[in-house]
Amino acid sequence: MEPIVKVNGLSKSFESSGEIFQVFEELSFNLAQNSATALIGESGSGKTTLINILAGLEPPSSGMVMIAKNEIWNYREPDRARFRLKNMAVIFQQYNLIPSLNVSSNISLHSQLIDNWDQSFQDELIKLFGLKNLLMKYPEEISGGQQQRVAIARSVLTKPKILLADEPTGNLDEENTMSVLKAFEMLLERCKSTILVATHSKSVANKIKSKLILKSGRAKK
Ligand SMILES: Nc1ncnc2c1ncn2[C@@H]1O[C@H](COP(=O)(O)OP(=O)(O)OP(=O)(O)O)[C@@H](O)[C@H]1O
Ligand SMILES: [Mg+2]
Repeated sequence: MEPIVKVNGLSKSFESSGEIFQVFEELSFNLAQNSATALIGESGSGKTTLINILAGLEPPSSGMVMIAKNEIWNYREPDRARFRLKNMAVIFQQYNLIPSLNVSSNISLHSQLIDNWDQSFQDELIKLFGLKNLLMKYPEEISGGQQQRVAIARSVLTKPKILLADEPTGNLDEENTMSVLKAFEMLLERCKSTILVATHSKSVANKIKSKLILKSGRAKK
């Protein structure tokens, strides 16, 4: 089967205060449909940058990103946003919950927007992540680890074709880390999703056989 994500010759550099920093250069890889891959690399190696490029949020400096036959960086921004909303979910390293919405609405909003809301799946995820008593609270009223679980439930609930997860267990204990892996398994089995998960966690990396390793290729130019 054709890979659902194809990346070819992808390079990214940032310019700041007159200097150019190369984050990575000529990266090429594929992700098979209905697979999970751990994205590994030391802090600063470019994991978040790569996830943002795949999500269509940060432009590459050069190279090609093809997602489900769509060359997303050839699209105009509104089309890219529409494509992302329909096909992808991102679990951000900084959670990115909506401050003015309570936990319950934060979890359901994205799924409702794309007309893909599944009440019983939502109940299942609320139970799995122990969020039942937090539903009426606002993001600022709950802990970092609780916010992280809300962000994960929100993304998984959309049943995305592609899930990009950026250090999703960074603030979680071992039991909640296992719940995250369980939720990912649900997506793999029920929705044939493709999952890329940036992680420093040994227990997550051990559970996911396929690995994509970013070497710190940040050369000053
Ligand atoms: N907007 C930006 N402007 C300038 N440099 C940036 C920008 N975003 C990231 N960088 C640089 O690119 C490099 C890669 O950053 P990135 O956040 O992708 O690393 P990471 O692998 O996700 O690290 P961590 O494990 O700490 O989350 C870093 O050296 C960072 O300083
Ligand atoms: Mg990061």
